[in-house]
Amino acid sequence: MFRLARHLLHLIVSPVLNGGRYLIAGSWKRGLALLVTLALAAVVGGLMFAWLGLASVSARSGHWPVTEWFLHMAMRNAVETRSVSVKPPLTLDDPKLILKGAGHYETGCSSCHASPGKGQSLIVQQMTPMPPVLATRIKEWTPEELFWIVKNGVKFSAMPAWLAPEREDEIWAIVAFIRKLPELSSEQYEHLALGTSASGWRQNQEAGLLKGLDDPLGPTLANCVRCHGAKGEGRGPSTIPILAGQRERYLLESLEAYANGERKSGIMQPIAAALDDQTRRELARHYASLARPEPAARVSEQTEAIQRGETIAQYGVPRQGVPSCAHCHGPRQTPRNPIYPDLSGQHADYLTLQLELFKSQKRGGTAYVHLMHSAVRRLTPEQMSDLAAYYAAQTVEASQ
Ligand code: HEC
Ligand code: HEC
Ligand code: HEC
Repeated sequence: MFRLARHLLHLIVSPVLNGGRYLIAGSWKRGLALLVTLALAAVVGGLMFAWLGLASVSARSGHWPVTEWFLHMAMRNAVETRSVSVKPPLTLDDPKLILKGAGHYETGCSSCHASPGKGQSLIVQQMTPMPPVLATRIKEWTPEELFWIVKNGVKFSAMPAWLAPEREDEIWAIVAFIRKLPELSSEQYEHLALGTSASGWRQNQEAGLLKGLDDPLGPTLANCVRCHGAKGEGRGPSTIPILAGQRERYLLESLEAYANGERKSGIMQPIAAALDDQTRRELARHYASLARPEPAARVSEQTEAIQRGETIAQYGVPRQGVPSCAHCHGPRQTPRNPIYPDLSGQHADYLTLQLELFKSQKRGGTAYVHLMHSAVRRLTPEQMSDLAAYYAAQTVEASQ
């Protein structure tokens, strides 16, 4: 190795010396040759430095100030330039978006970026670059820039890209939530991200709604409950679905579809992928056995929408090539394939979002999802929200 290094050194040094002689001799061509040679020498020298193992990759020593300045300057400018074409949704103050983002922040971000009332782990503090306490940095970025960072991640740091980039609706939910981080107390954070306070948790357990931690499903369910509620009732109104009373086979195959990436969600995919087959089966059985909550109180202005939705659900829209939904989803038509989900009493916002996702082919799903792609292809946005209002108002009995 030493001989090879000496040889390489000779290769670099002799052209530099020669170039120096040319420059003194005064020819501009030779001067140019010197500059090119110097640049080459720097590249070869840098390569040798790394090849000989002299570059420090130790996270302990941190970056040199100049490296840190360069990386941050490059990152800030890249994010600024690349987020120019990003268009935010109409409102980022929507409590439904904030609630959905909070649940995932606890799963996927808080360990690195801290959360109100809980600092970063000692292990994370040994990273280079160290992830910032996010609440202190939010004001430095526009919503468009935050969206770009969360979607794409940051190279040369541990900041990960979003698992399902097609689910921009989820990324906006995260942005909506992190914009609120600087003003949240730890109690508010607990309520949004963990669902129940410690005392609420105890009450639910005493009432038999939560399995104990000694039950094999207990610790796993403790996580689901944060977003889907103690009784699988979802957290509404929101785009987090009700699981209680859903068909067992649909629940199981949906968890499998998330786990193997057939159904796209940066929020549910990591959770489902971390479960083994047996636990997925038990979770599906558990949620299918719970009673579905009564539909949320109906608002009188919605009545017309519900009626319009009912007509489409029952008869389809033949001139648009939209089939009857009731044929597969009820109410009152049997027998139906057990993979077809029960939509009755589901949150309207969740139903509308899923229809939009089917239409833009961004949702994915089980092996039967193509049925929905063709069913919704020609639905208008108004028809989707009418259908969602209709199904959200149905009681489970009516759909059996
Ligand atoms: C494994 C650790 C890790 C996880 C998990 C992580 N990040 Fe980061 N994040 C980082 C690091 C490291 C940086 C710093 C990059 C830099 O210094 O340029 C960063 C930077 C950021 C920034 C830019 C802040 C700034 O001023 O530099 C935002 C915004 C951000 N992360 C949001 C998130 C969100 C939201 C999540 C969850 C969806 C998340 N991060 C998950 C490590 C992480
Ligand atoms: C961080 C919040 C969060 C946690 C924790 C969570 N979920 Fe979800 N879950 C969601 C969201 C949001 C959706 C809707 C995703 C989409 O749009 O596809 C969802 C969707 C689902 C669906 C599909 C329902 C349907 O009608 O298609 C199932 C099944 C599910 N979750 C089961 C679980 C189980 C079981 C657990 C616990 C192991 C769990 N979830 C934990 C947020 C969460
Ligand atoms: C031929 C049968 C069929 C028809 C007709 C049909 N669907 Fe579906 N639908 C399905 C199947 C199968 C799924 C499950 C997709 C998956 O996740 O793989 C589904 C899923 C859904 C979901 C998602 C539920 C959830 O919990 O995520 C909604 C919402 C929905 N359908 C609404 C409708 C509406 C509205 C119509 C009428 C315009 C309709 N469907 C027509 C078979 C059908």
